Amino acid sequence: MVDGKNIVLGITGGIAAYKAAELTRELVKRGCAVTVMMTLNAAKFITPLTLQTLSGNPVYTDTFSLTGDWRIGHISLAERADIIVIAPATANIIGKIASGIADDLLSTTVMAAHVPVLICPAMNANMYRNPFVAENMKRCADRGFFMMDADIGELACRTEGPGRLPPVGEIIEEMEAVITVKDLAGVRILVTAGPTREAIDPVRFISNHSSGKMGHALAKAARMRGAEVTLICGATAQAAPGGVRYVKVISAREMRDAVMASLDAVDVVIKAAAVADYRPSKHETSKIKKKDETLTITLLRNPDIIAEVGKVKGSRILVGFAMETEDIEKNAREKMMAKNMDFIVANDLTREGAGFQHDTNVVKILDRNGTIEELPLMEKSAVAHRILDRVRDIRNG
Ligand code: PMT
Repeated sequence: MVDGKNIVLGITGGIAAYKAAELTRELVKRGCAVTVMMTLNAAKFITPLTLQTLSGNPVYTDTFSLTGDWRIGHISLAERADIIVIAPATANIIGKIASGIADDLLSTTVMAAHVPVLICPAMNANMYRNPFVAENMKRCADRGFFMMDADIGELACRTEGPGRLPPVGEIIEEMEAVITVKDLAGVRILVTAGPTREAIDPVRFISNHSSGKMGHALAKAARMRGAEVTLICGATAQAAPGGVRYVKVISAREMRDAVMASLDAVDVVIKAAAVADYRPSKHETSKIKKKDETLTITLLRNPDIIAEVGKVKGSRILVGFAMETEDIEKNAREKMMAKNMDFIVANDLTREGAGFQHDTNVVKILDRNGTIEELPLMEKSAVAHRILDRVRDIRNG
């Protein structure tokens, strides 16, 4: 999580410099302390005053403006940061970093830094494709700088191609990935997400309101912490997260087959999916016509995937969710015990902002020792990290 971190944002001189304002705003919203350093060229595209207003901190452009500090200014700025992000990074700054040139405040700060540096390129497509730039980007990556790829699309110079600054959300996700402690490195985690759909006929199905957000948050958080993640996902509008093995399924039976096929190769199973407990006994091959006043569909029980995993889990850690509308704790505990889970995350649906669709959730975590941890309203990403903290603690004994 970037929340509450100390961030040095380096802005260099390209048209995408205006997007650094949005990045600053978003970081400040998340409680980050943002210190902006601009090159003199960047200050021609966007004023330091704008960044100063948005960050609430002085903006630095000149190496020699910090002499009031008893330490050399640029070094002290770099020392205080959790991460330095350069967005947008021009071909020029990338070339300087790759060649060890320190001739202005930003390049000097980067040279002095002992903290992670994330470089987010943005430039004209032909420049981005230039072999010198590609070589310099590779040299930076080989030297331990974190490099994002530029986005592809329409550029300010009216051309199409690679060179756009990656979207602010992706830059922040990458920052999180860079600064997050890799305490789940190498742990193989399977997450299920989203709803299942049980077909009635070619146009209708039975499903539920799960958006997949909780499961995706878990997959992203686990990946950030160094885990090898498999995400088995029902029909959702969520984009597949980068860096995870992604398996798309539709029905509960498909989800069951995908989970069981992956089980041998995982250490942890987290079942955030909302699986339909029943499916129509018949999947009609033609659309059911409107004839009578009533229509009866017979439903059959679907496989209980988590119960099946619980029977063969061995030393794996098994985490379930509970979706309850009453007797939350009692019902969640019974599910956990009956299905051999290590712990269960119960959504408190009586609370505003909990459960389906929201970006937030309100949960209680119940474990086999009888403890109940009640979490307040939190972003699903924060809930995901709390669940993964538990997984880490169980693994560490
Ligand atoms: O996707 P979002 O919109 O972000 O919403 C998140 C969520 C509310 C769907 C999620 O937080 C959640 O609670 N998922 C589980 C919902 C659910 O199916 O609860 P349940 O009490 O019916 O099932 C208990 C557990 O058994 C769950 O881990 C479920 O994945 C699993 N299960 C259920 C039925 C079944 N046939 N097979 C299963 O494995």
